[in-house]
Amino acid sequence: MEKESNPKVSMEEIVSLCKRRGFIYPSCEIYGGFANSYSYGPYGAQLKKNIKDLWWNKFIESRRDMLGIDGPIILNPKVWEASGHTSGFNDAMVDCKECQSRYRADHLVLESTGEDLEGNLKGLNKALLEKKIKCPNCNKHNWAEARFVNMMFKTNVNGFEGDVFLRPETAGSIFVEFKAIIDSMRVRIPFGIGQIGKAFRNEIIARNFIFRLREFEQMEIEYFIHPEADWESIFNNWLESQEEFAAELGILKSEIRRYQHPKDKLSHYSKKTVDIEYDFPFGFSELYGLANRTDFDLSSHQKASGVELSYLDPITNERYIPHVIEPTFGLDRSILAALCSAYTIDEANDNRVVLKFPYKIAPIKIAIFPLLKNKEDIVKKALAVFDSLSKHFNCEFDDNGNIGKRYRRQDEIGTPFCVTIDFDTLEDNTVTVRDRDSMEQKRIAVDELIDFFSLNT
Ligand code: GAP
Repeated sequence: MEKESNPKVSMEEIVSLCKRRGFIYPSCEIYGGFANSYSYGPYGAQLKKNIKDLWWNKFIESRRDMLGIDGPIILNPKVWEASGHTSGFNDAMVDCKECQSRYRADHLVLESTGEDLEGNLKGLNKALLEKKIKCPNCNKHNWAEARFVNMMFKTNVNGFEGDVFLRPETAGSIFVEFKAIIDSMRVRIPFGIGQIGKAFRNEIIARNFIFRLREFEQMEIEYFIHPEADWESIFNNWLESQEEFAAELGILKSEIRRYQHPKDKLSHYSKKTVDIEYDFPFGFSELYGLANRTDFDLSSHQKASGVELSYLDPITNERYIPHVIEPTFGLDRSILAALCSAYTIDEANDNRVVLKFPYKIAPIKIAIFPLLKNKEDIVKKALAVFDSLSKHFNCEFDDNGNIGKRYRRQDEIGTPFCVTIDFDTLEDNTVTVRDRDSMEQKRIAVDELIDFFSLNT
């Protein structure tokens, strides 16, 4: 099912649909919400799982050079000292002295002047003062001194002296298991280790719905290569694979672009970074990232732990510390981009709202309707069809409201097919199958449904 280019959806439309239709809710609303956090509802949780499964299948299960792990969120704090996060994982924060609103200083300056001063505290303080940047909340110009704050979440562990941290990126728990992997698995460089899991950042301001969260999920790969390998071509292949994955979520080529970080803006570990940016409702922003982390992490952990982290090639007997190419994918941003790309208003059909998800990520694949909920024979038959199809596809049984309303509801959650069981079904054992995008309806024999959906998905 090809999706055509679509007028841009607003964030309000997405947020409202997500809440109304059980994808994403503001968390703890009964207590007035909390810190811009969100819960994935039944359809959102299924969409998230489908995207994770697609990623895991594409990058781990289908490749001979990839392995998957599932590491802990709380690691030995020495990991973050060695990786540079304890000292360098900072954002610049600034407070308005008039109304006490708090901002990320570089975002404030960028939005007011177009100048990107991320990481340049002196430049930020100067710009706030000299460019007379106003507080977006009270419109006054009276700033406290901007200062760096570390973005890692602190916690403590019983029996352990001192602070420990929730991981700010999943990458950390991959690097520390590099030795365990090469000791226990039959791997030969080049190979990669992938992981899906939560990461935590004490963002100064969480905003733009699920785009910037304090608790989010990443799908990351550390791809280990020979230090003298042709890393540029490996890097470009990964960039293409990341774009391919975006396409599998239903994202159009025209909705993404590449952004290469200038040398002076690179993270402390990176030799080259390219972001894949998506055209979100608030403009182009980072969806995925790709970095050449060189041997920074393995060398730092080797030095800090005193444990040898080199690799011995079993054929050439060469020993070396591998370099690393890191493709990283934000899961929540993937969900937001997939929702925005799928969102369609069908003007030719009463402005119905349709989420044109690719089949693989649609939370529900087939909805099953008894025409009338008070006709026992029809309901019994519909339940039998549900029981049979749900062994093969993720299905939903819906007997609420008239058929037109049920179609609209399923369109809004992106269900590719609806099946209606009616009076004719009782006579000839056929049902109506309705296609989400074309709205075309076909009569199909119940016994042929599994084959039909297997062929058409
Ligand atoms: N290991 C490299 C790394 O963590 P990053 O660019 O800081 O790099 C990777 O993060 C991805 O994680 C981003 O491309 C983005 O999709 C996602 N991400 C980062 N911060 C986020 C946040 N506060 N909320 C939601 N997703 C976030």
